[in-house]
Amino acid sequence: MSSPPLSHPDDLLTVQQVVARTGVMPSALRFYEARGLITAERNSGNQRLYRRYMLRRISLVLAARRLGIPLADVADIFTTLPVDQPPSHQDWVRVSRVWKRQLAERRRFLTNLERQLTACIGCGCLSMKLCDLLNPDDGLRTRGQGPVRLHDEGERNDPG
Ligand code: FES
Repeated sequence: MSSPPLSHPDDLLTVQQVVARTGVMPSALRFYEARGLITAERNSGNQRLYRRYMLRRISLVLAARRLGIPLADVADIFTTLPVDQPPSHQDWVRVSRVWKRQLAERRRFLTNLERQLTACIGCGCLSMKLCDLLNPDDGLRTRGQGPVRLHDEGERNDPG
């Protein structure tokens, strides 16, 4: 006779069962555990067992990976999740809103980098002092993109 299907959030799953359900390798599960993203229990043989609801936390980790959310940020937001029950629908809504804001910030950052890189393509100076990309804190950045001083000198030297 086969055993009944696992259905309660507190059911314990073996590493192999979690791997089969998530596609996450055992080494990654240990890594997530070491980072505090998931927890495991031990049986009498010292084998890891995971509460069924850990599958949902692993799903969140996988979603974050797909979105490029740094693991440190995932760990931060996981501190706001319940540790003894699965993340709720409301938890996921809240987490996804936070990650959406992070994606928007990253998009703005990348757009800015792309703008700086575009200026470099038209310049080629690779100057540690003048290049906005190489020296982002340079005060000259407020005076425009690219080799501002060279442009200024060009204007001073241009008699016309
Ligand atoms: S190479 Fe970046 S501004 Fe010149």
